[in-house]
Amino acid sequence: MSDRLVIRPATAADAEAIDSVVRAAFAGTDFGHQGEAELVRMIEADGDALVSLVAERHGLIVGHVLFSYMNVEADGAPLSAAGLAPVSVVPEVQGQGIGDALIRAGLDSLREQGVAISFVLGHENYYPRFGYSPVLAARFASPFAGPHFMAMMLDSGAPWPLGGRADYAPAFGRMG
Ligand SMILES: CC(C)(COP(=O)(O)OP(=O)(O)OC[C@H]1O[C@@H](n2cnc3c(N)ncnc32)[C@H](O)[C@@H]1OP(=O)(O)O)[C@@H](O)C(=O)NCCC(=O)NCCS
Repeated sequence: MSDRLVIRPATAADAEAIDSVVRAAFAGTDFGHQGEAELVRMIEADGDALVSLVAERHGLIVGHVLFSYMNVEADGAPLSAAGLAPVSVVPEVQGQGIGDALIRAGLDSLREQGVAISFVLGHENYYPRFGYSPVLAARFASPFAGPHFMAMMLDSGAPWPLGGRADYAPAFGRMG
């Protein structure tokens, strides 16, 4: 079995393994791990998943990232958008670049789909390395607005919208 990390699109057969990975990743965090696993299931069930990738090592799924549809308006027009959440790596192999590889592959896949902008709600020390900026996100009205709310244009040469509104997929509103 291959020693290297394989990043590939998730399939329906991966659902249980993804559930375990998400629970394990969030078990020691302040976020409800039950909630994050439930969120993944709801987004998939609603058909709002845009990109779902797994990281596999030795044939085992050790990480997962999900990007979901967002309803975004920028400068008075709809803008295709994807929210990054959640990203999960099992504790045993955290800090080895797996989360990094999942997020970069996910962003590439969004670019291939022609998605214009991505948002994330997360740690301000982690996401800027991928290009996410709290300054760009602050231009968008959102219930999640704050220092942890970041955004990036997927085409780094694209001009930043001056203002707008950003709403996550309905599943986020059903989080307990
Ligand atoms: C956040 C997470 C997906 C990052 O994946 P990863 O494979 O561990 O991260 P990488 O190896 O790509 O990057 C390491 C960076 O992640 C950060 N990090 C977060 N949790 C970490 C951990 N337990 N161990 C090491 N680094 C961690 C560090 O700040 C590190 O930054 P540095 O490069 O400046 O040292 C993963 O740690 C995880 O699943 N955490 C629990 C779930 C979570 O909090 N998800 C994000 C919610 S918004």
